[in-house]
Amino acid sequence: MKYGYFDNENREYVINKIDVPVSWTNYIGVKDLCGVFNHTAGGYLFYKSPEYHRVTRFRPNGVPMDRPGHYVYVRDDDTGEYWTLSWQPAGKDLKNAKYVCRHGLSYTKYSCEYSGIHGEQTLFIPLDDPVEIWDVKLKNDTDRKRRLSVFGYAEFSFHHITIDNQNFQMSLYCAGSSFDDGIIELDLFYEEKGFQYFTANSVENSKENFDCLRDSFIGPYRTEANPAAVEKGYCSGSFELGGNHCGALRQSFELESGEEKRLVFFLGEGNQHEGQKIRYRYSSKDFAKVDSSFNALKNFWKEKLDKLQISTPNEGMNTMINIWTLYQAEINVMFSRFASFIEVGGRTGLGYRDTSQDAMMVPHSNPQKSKDRLIELLKGLTTDGYALHLFNPDWFSKQTAPAFKSPTVVPSPSKSQMVHGIEDACADDALWLIPAVVEYVKETGDFNFIDEKYTYADTFDQLTGDGKKETVFDHLKRILDFSAREIGSHGICRGLRADWNDCLNLGGGESAMVSFLHHWALTHFTALGKRLGRDVCLYENMAANVRQSCEKELWNGSWYTRGFTSSGRAIGSPDCGEGKVFMESNTWAVLSGAVSKERGIAAMDAVNKYLYTPYGLKLCDPAFSRPDDEVGFVTRVYKGLKENAAIFSHPNPWAWAAEAVLGRGERAVKFYDALCPYNQNDMIEIRKAEPYMYCQFIAGPDHSAFGRAHHPFMTGSAGWSYFAVTRFMLGIRPDFDSLIIDPCIPPSWPSFFIRRVWRGAVYNITVENPDGVSKGVRECSLNGVLVACNNSAAEIPAQKEGSENFITVFMEHKNR
Ligand code: GLC
Repeated sequence: MKYGYFDNENREYVINKIDVPVSWTNYIGVKDLCGVFNHTAGGYLFYKSPEYHRVTRFRPNGVPMDRPGHYVYVRDDDTGEYWTLSWQPAGKDLKNAKYVCRHGLSYTKYSCEYSGIHGEQTLFIPLDDPVEIWDVKLKNDTDRKRRLSVFGYAEFSFHHITIDNQNFQMSLYCAGSSFDDGIIELDLFYEEKGFQYFTANSVENSKENFDCLRDSFIGPYRTEANPAAVEKGYCSGSFELGGNHCGALRQSFELESGEEKRLVFFLGEGNQHEGQKIRYRYSSKDFAKVDSSFNALKNFWKEKLDKLQISTPNEGMNTMINIWTLYQAEINVMFSRFASFIEVGGRTGLGYRDTSQDAMMVPHSNPQKSKDRLIELLKGLTTDGYALHLFNPDWFSKQTAPAFKSPTVVPSPSKSQMVHGIEDACADDALWLIPAVVEYVKETGDFNFIDEKYTYADTFDQLTGDGKKETVFDHLKRILDFSAREIGSHGICRGLRADWNDCLNLGGGESAMVSFLHHWALTHFTALGKRLGRDVCLYENMAANVRQSCEKELWNGSWYTRGFTSSGRAIGSPDCGEGKVFMESNTWAVLSGAVSKERGIAAMDAVNKYLYTPYGLKLCDPAFSRPDDEVGFVTRVYKGLKENAAIFSHPNPWAWAAEAVLGRGERAVKFYDALCPYNQNDMIEIRKAEPYMYCQFIAGPDHSAFGRAHHPFMTGSAGWSYFAVTRFMLGIRPDFDSLIIDPCIPPSWPSFFIRRVWRGAVYNITVENPDGVSKGVRECSLNGVLVACNNSAAEIPAQKEGSENFITVFMEHKNR
């Protein structure tokens, strides 16, 4: 069953059957003011922090589903009938009402046909102003004049997510609201900058036209589905110091047959004065600034997407890579992981491993944000070489003491709360930073970054802003040294609190994933060091040692063991009854470059044999059924869910990349297609979640809801999907001084095209595959001139900034 389709021309996903089974969400805003909204305008807005500075309230995980939101009510003043422009909350019978939701890149458009009125509400946030714009358009499609009232409504929050949910004896009496000059102002009295406003292009100053108090607008024993004010047809002019506040504004007018009207609401950060400025700026000249800001937002995304566009025989891959996968990856970099309908804002900051991987995926489309994130991560590293698992980057910049301490200021934790010890360290966290830094340099050519100096978390002094400072290069060395030190009796890295798999808690036991990752990081680091002419012998030797231990201790004769518990029991090996084969150790064996091709092939064959399902690859098999605390929390999760043998999305692209390294293009695409959300568009009765987003996991075959996808948007799956497809399957990889072209595709692909912008030059690359092979490049021409192909891959030297280049690549002949 399907609920919508991909509109690639407009870069939108169109939900035309609006009663989707779960919320299908989108993100609006790309800087400080941001919102998460679903297909029926339910959701919330926050300024900078979803934990400390919530603008509007959200009641997560409740019934009715995912409310409140930013709603526009339309009322027919002749009949008294009313509805909303998004299907919910009024929830009109879909037999009489037609609702469509278009999720675009950082905007969402709700439209509705009801009672002869066509209505539209577009939510977006301009690039340069912290205001959410509700662009509302109405058209009278009947042949008679209509008298209408339109109400814009949103419920304000008390900013701090905790305060918003408890201790009302305090918060209820510290928030006030007022109305003046058509503007509602919310004032959190106990905060220094506690203002928001809600206004519209034109609101007459009368009490019928506004309510600042939620309970006056909605009325007792009612919900957002039937607010008293809308039912009556007018507001009551409520406002108060204390209470629960809302922005509710009414505009009433007549629409002749065929006539259209545009109204714009503004929900913004700042006080009443700010609201006045914004209203003026955006309303004048027929909303010219609304239109130009919307176009600027569209261009903002177009420019990013234009950095890399593909055309392959795989439509799902084209749609996802050209639009949605980059969008999802970018959203992860912008918002980190803590604002969604799942992570509802109760946590702030950056997860070390997630952010490192996120930053690695988008240096071509967002170099500055990637670099900013890398710097935040460098500062979150300890001098011991392990990283802070979850931290707030603000902790490691100079702090100015707040003017007064209110209950909602961001708490300032003590140093010991900020910098945890090794007992809370995850073995993999910091290792991800190394390839992320190296990929950033390869993309941008910003070699100077490597010698920039940054502080360490454990030596940082918040008052002076000082601490021990070392170069980026030195930071990376400390990470590698830590992993070399932290090994167990097999010479494999200890698992510590967790490795990439949060639920595998091996402590002093050993993790294959971490040793392979260590090797991968070492290869990146030594390549970088050599390019910079530095002595990296020590690290080349370290890599040789890691290789040796991995091959000796982890190869179990059939595939790669996942690790050892602290008592020495193997996990992920043929003798294990449960958790016999794992994705992480086998994919990373190949990706790390630490193992032989022959064994790599056997390992990935085991992945195919034991872990493949039609919806993607399971994380492990068989699922664990009994708690086993030496293995970890994974054994306490229901079978087929999350890390316990679900189809965990994030590592799936590791398998595509590993297959590409092994030269098996057909297998890589088979795995790609299985997980691809696009391919599940028509089976929403199984998938449930939105088909334009990767989800954290899909229930595995051991679970009764096999195939159901959970936790969209905030997952590293998109970044990894982008990385694996573009760099490994399509094989276009920036190196320090050249662009490598090394595709691995299904033999059935006759050709593909990719347009890649790299360091300011455009590379139009056509790959021809006349003989139907998977891997190997025999000939390559750059602007009509042949270039050398080494190791069956082409290497294009970096071309002049501003140049447009045409490259044709011929894949190998068959049987060579
Ligand atoms: C979640 C976490 C991520 C972890 C993964 C596997 O996605 O955000 O850090 O690696 O689960 O446990």
